[in-house]
Amino acid sequence: MTQLQLKKLSGYVGAEISDIRLADINDDTFAAIQNALFEHGVIFFREQFLTPEQHIEFAERWGEIDVSRFFNGVEGYPQIAEVLTKRDQKIVIGGHWHTDQSFDPAPAMASILSAQQLPEFGGDTLFASMGAAYDHLSEGLKATLENLNAWHSDASFGLAAQVLDEHFSADGITKPTLHPVIIRHPVTGRKAIYVNDAFTTHFEGWTVEESQPLLKYLYQYAVQPSFCCRFTWSPGTVAIWENRLVQHYAAADYQGQKRLMHRITIKGTGLM
Ligand code: OGA
Ligand code: MN
Repeated sequence: MTQLQLKKLSGYVGAEISDIRLADINDDTFAAIQNALFEHGVIFFREQFLTPEQHIEFAERWGEIDVSRFFNGVEGYPQIAEVLTKRDQKIVIGGHWHTDQSFDPAPAMASILSAQQLPEFGGDTLFASMGAAYDHLSEGLKATLENLNAWHSDASFGLAAQVLDEHFSADGITKPTLHPVIIRHPVTGRKAIYVNDAFTTHFEGWTVEESQPLLKYLYQYAVQPSFCCRFTWSPGTVAIWENRLVQHYAAADYQGQKRLMHRITIKGTGLM
C-alpha cells in the first residue's frame, strides 16, 4: 500500500497530505487516500489547481456524483456546484455547523471542495469529529441515543434561497427523512453522532419541543473545540470530507471580499 506524506491537524480530525497530484494518481494511491479519509474524517491537498475536468474525474473515483438540486452549477459543468460569496453578501453558504445533505434518504458521502478565489484573510473552514463526539458520551447517553432516530429536513433552504436568490434555488425541497441518531460507518464500522443544527428537526416519536433540549445539548457538545480542526485555505487547495464522520462550518469573517469554491458531492448509501 502506498505510504502517504500525512500530517494530522488536531487530535481527532483532519490531516494534510502532501506530495500528491490528485490529477495524476494510480489505484494504489487512491486506496490510501480513501483510507486516510475514513481515518481522519477530512483531508486536505494544497496547490492542486484542478481544472473542472480533473475535479470531475477525481470525484468519479469515489462514486456517483450527486448533482445539487439547490446550488447553481459551474457554467458547462452541472456536476460542480458553485459555492460563492459575493463581495456584498453577508450570509455565507455553510456559515453554521452542518452535515451536507443529511436530509436525503441516502445522504451524501463525501464533498470535494476546490478553492478558486479566496479572500485576503478569513474564510477558514472548521470540521468537528462526530466519531470523537460519540466516543466521549457517557455510557448512559450512548444507550439512550442508540435507540433513537431523528427527522432531517431541507426546509431551512427555503429561507436561504430567499437571501441568496440568484445562485441558490429552493425548488428542490423534499419530504423530511429519518436517520439513526448514532450511525455506523459503512466501511469501517466507526460509530458517529448524526444530528446537526441545520437540518435535524426532532426525534422520531418525540415532539419538536421535547426534542429541543437534548438536540441543542448534542449540537453544542459535538462541536466543542477539542473535537475540531480549523483549516486555512491557500490557492488551489482541495478538501475532501466524509459527511458521515464530520460536521463542518464556514467562517463568515471576510466581509466585503469575494470567495469562490467549486464543490462536487458524492452520493452515499443509506445509513445504518
Ligand atoms: C459546502 C460548505 C464550506 C466552505 O460547500 O458544503 O459547507 O468553507 N462549504 O465553503
Ligand atoms: Mn457544507
